[in-house]
Amino acid sequence: MQIEQNISLRQYNTFGIDVKAKLFSSFGTQEELDDLLTPTSKLPTIILGGGSNILFTKDFDGLVLKNETKGIDLIKEDLNHVYVRSGAGENWHQFVLYAIQRNWAGLENLSLIPGNVGASPMQNIGAYGVEIREIFDELEAYHKKERKIHTFSANDCEFGYRDSVFKKKYRNDFVIMNVTFRLNKKPHFNISYGAIEEELEKMGVKDLNIQAVSQAVINIRSSKLPDPAKIGNAGSFFKNPEIGMKQYNKLQALFPDIIGYPLQNGNTKLAAGWLIEACGWKGIRRGDAGVHTQQALVLVNYGEATGKELYDLSEKILQSVKRKFGIQLEREVNII
Ligand code: FAD
Ligand code: EPU
Repeated sequence: MQIEQNISLRQYNTFGIDVKAKLFSSFGTQEELDDLLTPTSKLPTIILGGGSNILFTKDFDGLVLKNETKGIDLIKEDLNHVYVRSGAGENWHQFVLYAIQRNWAGLENLSLIPGNVGASPMQNIGAYGVEIREIFDELEAYHKKERKIHTFSANDCEFGYRDSVFKKKYRNDFVIMNVTFRLNKKPHFNISYGAIEEELEKMGVKDLNIQAVSQAVINIRSSKLPDPAKIGNAGSFFKNPEIGMKQYNKLQALFPDIIGYPLQNGNTKLAAGWLIEACGWKGIRRGDAGVHTQQALVLVNYGEATGKELYDLSEKILQSVKRKFGIQLEREVNII
């Protein structure tokens, strides 16, 4: 365990932003984390997983700690479920594949999401009709000031759409060390969302199975979203906004093509990508900062963009969506 000084964070964030951290280290156990926090307790700290949901807008004048707590364990099972605990530092997609290989169902729709297991409850990751809250059992997190582990149930996490207590009242207080998922021995397929059914048909799948669903999701995602290894990005930069029925009806009268999904509470979730595209932003490029050519919700770094340039671009997008539709978009990516 070594503390490095003044190192570039470029390889540690999928936007590929070249900022410096005053101090940088990694930890694989609670003891190592404890040892790192003792002499540095007055410094600001950031916990980093895969860096796929973060935008650094300036050098970080503190300690960046990369969570590398590893290990996947089957901790208990009952008639219908297995309870599987993963270290926070495990790669998310590798964890999904580990479960699928063992026929443990529930994670297949969440295939190929970048990042690590530890960040998954931070914003209750979701895709293709599934969010982790549906298969979440509990997590253990280390309180930085109290220096002890707390256990959080799903209720304690207060999950919402791309949201949890860790983004709100406990922001920066905890380090998530491991997460336990309750996976199904018998799959409950969820293929109603988006193009999954169509993709399964294209693949010629006759007997539905979780491997096929995972592959269908992988195929769809690969065709739509830019691969961070090739072009810097952090997935959707903004959340899809939720609006009331009255406002939706008014907007629909003005913009008949607007895309919205009805929610159980009577509200509508709008496709922010459509709103941004309708404002003319899709595919634009300002220097090396741009809006993806196939998905207007994704901002991209073509090489040497700074975090500030990407942030400024996001601000212009926010303003123009507000002007045209009267809707205030919210950023999804964590801005540092
Ligand atoms: P990081 O970016 O490292 O961290 C994110 C935040 O969590 C930071 O604030 C960080 O400080 C904090 N954090 C990280 N680990 C811990 C920990 N152990 N304890 C406490 N705090 C921690 N997300 C979706 O929900 N659905 C998608 O479909 C999706 N698609 C994506 C596609 C692409 C191409 C990309 C690049 C991103 C996508 N994302 C998606 C966003 C991203 O993959 C998720 O948010 C992911 O969970 C981030 O994981 P990470 O380890 O990279 O987090
Ligand atoms: N659309 C446009 N123009 C665009 C982009 C999208 O018109 O430029 C339209 C699409 O045609 C579609 C609708 O908007 O009708 C929704 O698009 P898509 O299915 O691509 O999903 P999304 O709403 O843009 C959300 C999540 C993704 C997740 C997918 C699949 C958010 C903020 N984003 O994207 O999550 O993978 O659904 O479930 O909720 C992420 O969080 O980083 C992320 C990628």
